[in-house]
Amino acid sequence: MASPYIETALCRHGDSLTMSFDVYEIRQQFPILSRTVHNKPLVYLDNAATTQKPQVVIDALVDYYSNYNSNVHRGAHSLADEATRKYEGARDTIAEFIQANNRREVIWTTGTTESINIVAHGLAQMLTCDDQVLVTEMEHHANLVTWQQACKASGASLVIAPIDDDGELIIDQYLALINNNTRLAALPHASNALGSLNPIKELTTEIKKRSDNSALVLIDGAQGIAHSLVNVQEIGCDFYAFSSHKLYGPTGIGVLWGKEQLLESWPVWQTGGEMIAEVTYTDAKWNTLPYRLEAGTPNIAGVIGFGAAVSWYAKLDLKAVLAHEEKVLSYATQLAADFTGLTVIGSAAKKVPVLSFVMDRGHPADIGFILDRQGVAIRTGHHCAEPLMNRLNIPGTARASFALYNTCEEVDALFNALKKVKQMLA
Ligand code: ALA
Repeated sequence: MASPYIETALCRHGDSLTMSFDVYEIRQQFPILSRTVHNKPLVYLDNAATTQKPQVVIDALVDYYSNYNSNVHRGAHSLADEATRKYEGARDTIAEFIQANNRREVIWTTGTTESINIVAHGLAQMLTCDDQVLVTEMEHHANLVTWQQACKASGASLVIAPIDDDGELIIDQYLALINNNTRLAALPHASNALGSLNPIKELTTEIKKRSDNSALVLIDGAQGIAHSLVNVQEIGCDFYAFSSHKLYGPTGIGVLWGKEQLLESWPVWQTGGEMIAEVTYTDAKWNTLPYRLEAGTPNIAGVIGFGAAVSWYAKLDLKAVLAHEEKVLSYATQLAADFTGLTVIGSAAKKVPVLSFVMDRGHPADIGFILDRQGVAIRTGHHCAEPLMNRLNIPGTARASFALYNTCEEVDALFNALKKVKQMLA
């Protein structure tokens, strides 16, 4: 049944309205891409950290604050009604985008980190010292430290699945670690530091089978959501966590998607307004989904901006978008292979558009500094994956990460700038 809130005609993945992808036309929609940095055209290659925002998202934020700023769900006036419709419409947009079973499964959070913390907070209350939580060597701190703490609090064991030197999960060793004591397998859709893309659907099926359905599966989708066609029902996982700002939306807003039956009984995370159904001086009853996990006044502008981002993104020909990103990554990988003194870190067979590398001469921080002087923005360091860097015996990497608006000319600009790095650090 059509939702009363939905205002945008969303295209399902694969049969979008626009049947081609023109990167130069797309770039026009991102005002920031025409600025300069140190008098050089900006070449923004730090998209795994955060993506830039199209005008349509900026307009949605300005529109909310200019024209109908109001709290949601509470007001007896027109502005509150308008804000509530737009806010709940965004929930429908996201539910449809990830193919959730229904809108109650979409919980607003501040981002992927909070989404994972909500699951960890609840699970820590259920774990016993016989239980195991399975993660991988390629985790971002958000999907590692959280589980370390949950295991410490409960006495459960944290099991770390190995990767190979290409940064790829060793599948048979991963599967061998699953048993009837596995209560949760938390794994990234894609590694933020290396780009490795995990076969999450196949792994979820195996995790369920090998644990006799005792294990829940949580996917850290921070780096996967903008570079794959996510259908949570098809994946079969229990939770999928992601952030708006890596999908062309504002910062400070994200989603915990979870299966309705699980979320219905999940321990409440924060208490306060909105998440209650009934309160006395001595007790309270919780609201229904999705509100029972959303205490307090939410990030209304963020939600509306995120809805605008996803409405915009979902109307693109996403297969063409992903093919374009793959082309840009493959071109960058080719130039990297031909660049003497540069070593790519992370060569998994399937990757999101991330090129992490080290150079014979030059600490990653120096590389980042020299690139910035030439207008090229990348991230350097351990990328919030310190144990992964230790596993690979490197202090960190320089990381160029691409989005749908990046071009092969920008890859040329990166490698021309790297020639300068080489000269300067020789
Ligand atoms: N997790 C983000 C990154 O990889 C911030 O850069």
